[in-house]
Amino acid sequence: MAEETEIRTYDPPEEFVRQANVKDASVYDEAEKDYEGFWEERARQLHWFKEWDQVLKWDPPEAQWFVGGKLNVAYNCLDYQVEQGRGDKAALVWESDEPGEGKSYTYSELTAEVSKFANVLKGLGVKKGEPVAIYLPMIPELPIAMLACARIGAPHSVVFGAFSADSLRDRINDCEAKVLVTADEAPRGGRKTPLKKNADEALADTPSIENTVVVRRTGEDVDFTEGRDNWYDELMQEADAECPAEEVDSEDILYILYSSGSTGKPKGIVHTSGGYLTHVKATTSWVLDVKDSDVYWCTADVGWVTGHSYLVYGPLSNGATSLIYEGTPSYPEADRFWDIIERHGVNILYTAPTVIRAFMKGGTEDLEKHDLTSLRLLGTVGEPINPRAWEWYHENVGGGRCPIVDTWWQTETGGIMISPLPGITATKPGMATLPFPGISAGLFDEEGNEIEGPSDSGNLVVKRPWPGMLRTLYKDPARYKETYWEKYGDVYFAGDGARRDEDGYYLITGRVDDVMNISGHRISTAEVESALVGHQAVAESAVIGRQDEDTGQAIVAYVILEGDREGSDELIQELNQQVRRTIGAHARPKEIIFTPDLPKTRSGKIMRRILRGVAEGEQDLGDTSTLADPSVVDDLKAARQ
Ligand code: WT7
Repeated sequence: MAEETEIRTYDPPEEFVRQANVKDASVYDEAEKDYEGFWEERARQLHWFKEWDQVLKWDPPEAQWFVGGKLNVAYNCLDYQVEQGRGDKAALVWESDEPGEGKSYTYSELTAEVSKFANVLKGLGVKKGEPVAIYLPMIPELPIAMLACARIGAPHSVVFGAFSADSLRDRINDCEAKVLVTADEAPRGGRKTPLKKNADEALADTPSIENTVVVRRTGEDVDFTEGRDNWYDELMQEADAECPAEEVDSEDILYILYSSGSTGKPKGIVHTSGGYLTHVKATTSWVLDVKDSDVYWCTADVGWVTGHSYLVYGPLSNGATSLIYEGTPSYPEADRFWDIIERHGVNILYTAPTVIRAFMKGGTEDLEKHDLTSLRLLGTVGEPINPRAWEWYHENVGGGRCPIVDTWWQTETGGIMISPLPGITATKPGMATLPFPGISAGLFDEEGNEIEGPSDSGNLVVKRPWPGMLRTLYKDPARYKETYWEKYGDVYFAGDGARRDEDGYYLITGRVDDVMNISGHRISTAEVESALVGHQAVAESAVIGRQDEDTGQAIVAYVILEGDREGSDELIQELNQQVRRTIGAHARPKEIIFTPDLPKTRSGKIMRRILRGVAEGEQDLGDTSTLADPSVVDDLKAARQ
């Protein structure tokens, strides 16, 4: 997003520095001298049943961290917190879709609930190492189910509640879960998604599933299959509140989380236990500056990695109070977020640029109705934040006194990789700034050479292993190697473009592959294309992400129709429905353009650059001489009128 703003530098405010969890810049040098030692020190902040024999075993592209160590992630997030005197402290505070409704759990209560549900899972025959699928609204039962899996060493696979039945089915079949945890319905912004109905559709074709556990969220009548479906509350009533935490290996799988790649098939990103928890615990403390006395709010859905790392595992392993909100930013009124911050006394807010831009449009009136002085630190994640939105956030939400941490990372990285340390780093609006201590980032050019010093562009890489990194793609180690570790040899290829300034600060410009980023949600062009061609009227389709001032990128679909079919508003609606059914509502195109042809090279490759140029209304589309038929460009421009 080109904006003519002069980039100012913001030093960490003195008042913030005084209380910051880290304030001595020597942490960077120390970590640089011995990065394994640095991470080892962070790992020591966790509870281990048995210490590791070796910090890192790196056999590219395979990494093992804290080799031989034994721990339990749920024990660290629960029992260990109780042991440190946090038994009566709120662990989770839940705010429902309706203002003021909700409940909270102390660390002791949460430990008991998780233990009970761990026993429920055991009772359904789930064993250590066997994946459990979870498809739930943003309710406390979601972290409870995840932690229960962690407690017995069963990997969880959480599927975001907006995903369709088809997406749920594919994810269940890929990991062959025996149990699905779901709910009757998911309320959000005053509307309800029929989760159980979607699940029933998915389960028609998931041979591995033996049982479901259904949370009664709204009490709506749902179909129930005897012998397969079970009510959560009924099983919990009979469950024992004692369940010893299983000792798991540092490298045992904690979870699988599916994310979009460059092809139509989502990747099952695998995270393990010891290294992952070390990374998210350390970054929650150092970057998000979470303290015992804080109410911390990460607004991301637990169905995405941000929710996994920074709503559940990071804050709970630090003994924090983590707020979980079921609804949308503007229901029932446009000031809902600010109302929540005021009522709960939120100290740290971690949200997405899209949300900030949406509020910015509405002006400051809604903010002014509320007292936001409890806020101490602001964070953003998921997509580039334009300097204007950054400044607006800083001034109006943070009252000019709160540092902003713009955190770059990915589902694959597990935790924050590039970000300011708020008590140390001077920030520049729009820049994610510096790699976290111990992390080594870099830029490479297309020819495979590393770029030194400041640069206007480059492909972002990570040059050595880090504890939270993905270990593989579930059941697809070849794709793991090829996607991340082949382009530049033994460095991690992130798939993002970036700039680096004279201070070594990074500015992430966005994806360099066929992955789109819509409101911080990752969707691949190939997935949407394959959904569209699933409609009988569609012969071919090409999908691109174009810049959008609200959602960062917006999906534009170019569609060639079969034979004599003609485009119409009804067909546009049908195609939208088709995408919603195959992937989920969040993947619906913003614009569908019917076209007789697509810009292809003589070898048949679609030139997406041209599609993007047309969608963004650019007059000059650059070199079109390599097109098989350059007249296509005029047709495309005409089709967009
Ligand atoms: C992609 C990862 C990180 C958790 C949420 C998304 C983009 C992420 C930033 C940032 C610019 C960012 C990148 C990245 N991204 N954070 N601070 N500035 N871009 O996780 O779904 O795995 O998506 O989000 O393009 O590759 P994800």
